[in-house]
Amino acid sequence: MIEPILKITGLTACYGKISAIKAINFYAHDNEIVGIVGPNGAGKTTLLESIAGSMRIKNGRIFFLGRHIEKWPVLKRRQLGLMLVPQEGNVFPMMSVKKNLEISVILSNRAERKGLIDYVYELFPILWERRKQIANTLSGGQQKMLAVGLGITSNARVMLIDEPSIGLAPKLVTRLFETLKKIKEDTKKTIVLSEQNIKILNIADRLFGLEAGKIRFDEKTKNLSRDIVKDLYLGSIS
Ligand SMILES: Nc1ncnc2c1ncn2[C@@H]1O[C@H](COP(=O)(O)OP(=O)(O)OP(=O)(O)O)[C@@H](O)[C@H]1O
Ligand SMILES: [Mg+2]
Repeated sequence: MIEPILKITGLTACYGKISAIKAINFYAHDNEIVGIVGPNGAGKTTLLESIAGSMRIKNGRIFFLGRHIEKWPVLKRRQLGLMLVPQEGNVFPMMSVKKNLEISVILSNRAERKGLIDYVYELFPILWERRKQIANTLSGGQQKMLAVGLGITSNARVMLIDEPSIGLAPKLVTRLFETLKKIKEDTKKTIVLSEQNIKILNIADRLFGLEAGKIRFDEKTKNLSRDIVKDLYLGSIS
């Protein structure tokens, strides 16, 4: 069996005395889109932040690209190729779109830099149009596109994206999801995203259902019925 690129065992993370995620096992393979679904407060953000290193964990092991990284600081994990796109605020707010991309691309090979930036502009033409605009004056949706763009230019191997659909119009959600699928196909990256939007079924290869800090299912998307996901984990969102 092929080893997962990211493997997590027995992960527990707490806020004070309350554990938000409880002894979770989780994994993602190379070139896979993995969805983490679950209602508000299920622990999705806590899990992603624990993997990225911005949340301190109580117990557990995180194995990434052949190394145990659970004690590593955020930046070191980032340099190895693990990047979190948080629910909000993941761009350099006072810099232009162009400058944002030029800074993040420094983490990539010199020879690939221009191609990576061109690829982001090809995926999101609006960012090319707005390349001179200061990032914090972009709309919420445009900032999200830029945040995903920063993940691409920095050449992250695994992008952890926290609820990318929040605040986006339905059409834009569809477009962003299609773009994430294209990114996976073009770049062979792994994308782990948390979601409450049912459209996740259209792009995820596998889904982890999370509820009250515990994994309730881990299934290939094709084996899951839409109703199970919708009723149990996504509330009434359609
Ligand atoms: N800073 C904090 N202090 C105390 N408790 C917290 C804190 N952040 C999160 N929690 C609690 O931890 C649990 C998991 O929260 P988390 O943000 O991981 O859920 P989530 O699945 O991302 O929810 P949402 O869909 O609303 O973003 C919740 O019960 C929440 O109230
Ligand atoms: Mg969250």
